[in-house]
Amino acid sequence: MIEISGGTYEAPAMSGVVTKPQKASSATHEAYFLEFAEMVRGLVTAPLMVTGGFRTAAGMDAVLRSGALDIIGLARLLAIDPEAPAALLRGQDSQQRVRPMKTGITKIDRMGIMEISWYAQQLKRIANGGNPRPHESASFALVRALVSSGWGTFRTRRLRS
Ligand SMILES: Cc1cc2nc3c(=O)[nH]c(=O)nc-3n(C[C@H](O)[C@H](O)[C@H](O)COP(=O)(O)O)c2cc1C
Repeated sequence: MIEISGGTYEAPAMSGVVTKPQKASSATHEAYFLEFAEMVRGLVTAPLMVTGGFRTAAGMDAVLRSGALDIIGLARLLAIDPEAPAALLRGQDSQQRVRPMKTGITKIDRMGIMEISWYAQQLKRIANGGNPRPHESASFALVRALVSSGWGTFRTRRLRS
């Protein structure tokens, strides 16, 4: 299986830094990397998975039906709604919305790293047996990251969360 997703910590794709809008003819506007998957499809026989931008049951269904890929990957939605896959498999959309994480501090927002830090903090809550807090502000998460890791949070190549 080949998964197409990502970006890097320096330019996370989900912050919009390295992605371009999908062509209008794409089966869905949800997927960030669908055009890559369509290209790869013709080159390999391995099952293909795309992670990036999928939000609705209808959008995921449309892409799977198009045959462009075999497996849907979810990242941020799972961090705020771990039950989302069960609902999606029933054809229902998650009640939670993946939203851009902005602190209002231009320098930090341009780096795109609050996105990772905010969602990583949610994952940490789940890992510790708690529940995510989907409505928590990016500024609050920034302060928490600074208190726990200091400015080093924003200097390391891999973020500490
Ligand atoms: C907390 C967090 C950590 C991530 N770590 C990686 C990573 O190590 N490597 C990678 O290629 N993508 C990483 N991503 C990007 C995701 O794999 C995915 O491409 C991106 O979030 C878009 O998918 P989504 O729209 O379902 O969130 C990470 C995303 C989040 C939120």
